[in-house]
Amino acid sequence: MNRYETVRTQLQAAPKVWLITGVAGFIGSNLLEHLLRLNQTVVGLDNFSTGKRSNLNEVRSLISENQWQRFRFVEGDICKLATCRDVCIGVDYILHEAALGSVPRSIADPILSNESNVSGFLNMLVAARDADVKRFVYAASSSTYGDHPGLPKQEDTIGKPLSPYAVTKYVNELYADVFARTYGMETIGLRYFNVFGPRQDPEGAYAAVIPCWIRALLKGETVNINGSGETSRDFCFVENVIQMNLLAATTTEAAAINQIYNTAVNARTSLNELFTMLRDRLLQHYPRLKRCEPVHRDFRRGDVLHSQADISKAAALLGYVPSHTIGTGLDAALSWYVANL
Ligand SMILES: NC(=O)c1ccc[n+]([C@@H]2O[C@H](COP(=O)([O-])OP(=O)(O)OC[C@H]3O[C@@H](n4cnc5c(N)ncnc54)[C@H](O)[C@@H]3O)[C@@H](O)[C@H]2O)c1
Repeated sequence: MNRYETVRTQLQAAPKVWLITGVAGFIGSNLLEHLLRLNQTVVGLDNFSTGKRSNLNEVRSLISENQWQRFRFVEGDICKLATCRDVCIGVDYILHEAALGSVPRSIADPILSNESNVSGFLNMLVAARDADVKRFVYAASSSTYGDHPGLPKQEDTIGKPLSPYAVTKYVNELYADVFARTYGMETIGLRYFNVFGPRQDPEGAYAAVIPCWIRALLKGETVNINGSGETSRDFCFVENVIQMNLLAATTTEAAAINQIYNTAVNARTSLNELFTMLRDRLLQHYPRLKRCEPVHRDFRRGDVLHSQADISKAAALLGYVPSHTIGTGLDAALSWYVANL
């Protein structure tokens, strides 16, 4: 049995109380589904700024009524300290996902991003500290590598942030580290690299590339590539992110706690390759896509050029072994989009 299987077995035998902030969002709702399937008790917080009630309804439809009864949802904002305190009561582990994602959104409105991503984050740390929560696991970001050109990315070597969003996510790491050293809290930051999977929002100006392109291909709309298409990313299926969250929340190894971990696969796919992978997979259902070609436009400000994670630290200290490659992840994600769009 690998470490992840052991953790899941132990959690089922002795269920815990979890808080998921941002529970109505893409990653939050996938964490919720997984934890409820393991018969855990979950408190969820969301203000529906980008999350959706339909994500919660979908989770409910996928699990038993008994499992759903173990979930308490609170509609509220992490920018209110009293709300953060309320949801931390009696919680063993926090998985903090609530934030305003998207580099371009933060360039358009840095103050708004800072409110949720920095002030809200600090509120959650204070509330977790005062409620004596065992472990605070939070969503950090690969954007923290900024302009550092090195590949693959190693946790200790970062560059200058390229966007307000990247600043907010780096500040999270600094605060978590200071809270660990000053107040003796246990925190773990997970630097997610381009996560994708079911329930990731394909709509709007700030949609991530994979859901945005799947939507465009399914609807017969133009697929836009920003730049030459040689920009590359370490695309990470959401099941790998769930695994990292559970491993981080439950590890008892002192050396593994109060650390930052890359959360990805250690593979690099260019946007041109991604387009071909998506089109080829959809061709069997939609032969009209045979002649579909992307349209190139200007490179986007704030984006990093290349990204690929070294995941050896997570493997060594947490026992992380990604369950999905980009290919197997796309197969699973596409089935969901085909059924739901
Ligand atoms: N998806 C990725 O590729 C990726 C990459 C790196 C980091 N992250 C981080 O992972 C986390 C989850 O991202 P996601 O992709 O699921 O995004 P998402 O937008 O689907 O989910 C974020 C959730 O947080 C909620 N939220 C935002 N501000 C809030 C506030 N002030 N109070 C309460 N709830 C609030 C939103 O309503 C939403 O439900 C975020 O912290 C994001 O920055 C995501």
